[in-house]
Amino acid sequence: MHTKFFRGRRLRSSPALRDMMRETRLAAADLIMPYFVCETDDAAFRREIGSMPGQFQLAPAALKKQVAGAVDTGLRSVLLFGLPKSKDSQGSEAWNADGAVQQAVRMLKDEWPELLVITDVCLCEYTSHGHCGLLSAEGEVLNDPTLELLARVAVSHAQAGADMVAPSDMMDGRVKTLRTALDREGFYQLPIMSYAVKYASAYYGPFREAADSAPKAGDRKSYQMDPGNAREGLREAAADLAEGADILMVKPAGSYGDMIRLLADNFDVPVAAYQVSGEYSMIKAAGQRGWIHEEAVILESLIGIKRAGADLILSYFAEELLKKGLVR
Ligand code: PBG
Ligand code: ZN
Repeated sequence: MHTKFFRGRRLRSSPALRDMMRETRLAAADLIMPYFVCETDDAAFRREIGSMPGQFQLAPAALKKQVAGAVDTGLRSVLLFGLPKSKDSQGSEAWNADGAVQQAVRMLKDEWPELLVITDVCLCEYTSHGHCGLLSAEGEVLNDPTLELLARVAVSHAQAGADMVAPSDMMDGRVKTLRTALDREGFYQLPIMSYAVKYASAYYGPFREAADSAPKAGDRKSYQMDPGNAREGLREAAADLAEGADILMVKPAGSYGDMIRLLADNFDVPVAAYQVSGEYSMIKAAGQRGWIHEEAVILESLIGIKRAGADLILSYFAEELLKKGLVR
């Protein structure tokens, strides 16, 4: 008696064949590595983030050193977040021409002109209250007055030499405001990667320690999306596209594979997905305890994001995977 195998069984019969038949592959060109840059007098400043083992807050010069090891192993692109020395209610350090991000951009582009340097455009790391926009006296986020400030931030990043800006604030109309401001300053060619489908997610927990950006009061539910909503994500994405976004992002990635797929199927622009801090920390924590095979889970988590339809993946694992030669 012979069992009738499905065709898949025969196609899985040899490692070479399995490799040749694989539909989805991770490549170095898929990955974007996020970094946290600090404004500090200590050029060698490098502090590990407690809730994100293996990730650091870095002075611009220390970042350059960190990136050096990764560029050699194929790192194509970085996303920069800034931590200012001082905060105020407007987040005015965010558009300081000599701020941490602006300095870091200049340093990285000087050293590696071909490295794609993306900057996160938001105010929450820079505001004393920790919200992504200006607050009214009643503690409400003021959408329209915030737009002008975000435009200043984006232009200052472009002037420092950034290759792309990524607004993560979720104010309505920000993509159009940024596009207009960038064009006005002559940066017609500079693409915008919009955090279009961004959920109010508990997975951002470790990031808020890393970037010191937790709201002092309230939450972000008035401007970030409800995790139960999918169609709303399509509307957000369509709006950002109409306003001029070049790349649409879904964030977080792991629990929102359906949104990645929806965007990939419904829009003809590249889709990015952000494997966020909490997704990173959970894998690291379980890996450190020996509860999971860390490398295998990292690769599986990322292939899942790619298979869902992501063209680009932002992941804190990018540097490690490249350095270990697990992705080329
Ligand atoms: C700030 C911002 C956040 C993240 C990226 N940009 C946090 C938030 O919205 O609270 C999260 C990234 C991560 O968790 O890795 N607007
Ligand atoms: Zn923010």
